[in-house]
Amino acid sequence: MQYRIQENCKNIDWLAVYRVLQEAGMASHTLEETQKAFENSYRVVFVFDKDLLMGVGRAISDGSYEAGIFDVAVLPDYRGKKIGKLIMAELHKGLPNINVILYAKPEAQSFYKKIGYSKMLTGMAKFAREDRMREKGYTD
Ligand SMILES: CC(C)(COP(=O)(O)OP(=O)(O)OC[C@H]1O[C@@H](n2cnc3c(N)ncnc32)[C@H](O)[C@@H]1OP(=O)(O)O)[C@@H](O)C(=O)NCCC(=O)NCCS
Repeated sequence: MQYRIQENCKNIDWLAVYRVLQEAGMASHTLEETQKAFENSYRVVFVFDKDLLMGVGRAISDGSYEAGIFDVAVLPDYRGKKIGKLIMAELHKGLPNINVILYAKPEAQSFYKKIGYSKMLTGMAKFAREDRMREKGYTD
């Protein structure tokens, strides 16, 4: 099936983005915060089936050697159709020779491993709120 990919925030329905994240259990910020995060990102990817937004992802970067990928999610009915892989490939296209880090829920780790990601032994994080630390599963 042919899907439409958009790589900018023009005319994006932020409620639709929020819904995709919500369906993935990842809507832990307000709609306004979500919009700001995507608008301030280095790269964004939105995937549509006709007019339906069903996949999203974004990367922040210094544009030189470091980047982070966040908010990668696909609507449940569209999972398992390589759309997650497509989102990651589109994000990576704009990050040549750049290291990428990301948070991966335990259930998503195999997905990331399949596209070349490895677990880090050196990662540390400082979260803005305790509940954000818990929701990401980092309890060490
Ligand atoms: C994780 C997610 C983005 C993957 O998207 P998707 O479109 O379903 O994945 P794809 O169809 O592109 O899968 C690509 C490959 O990863 C595998 N894969 C996908 N999700 C997987 C999972 N949860 N566990 C194990 N393997 C998985 C697929 O089998 C496929 O393998 P193949 O290339 O050998 O056939 C999607 O399932 C999702 O939105 N999940 C909920 C939100 C989430 O966990 N996001 C990640 C943030 S931590």
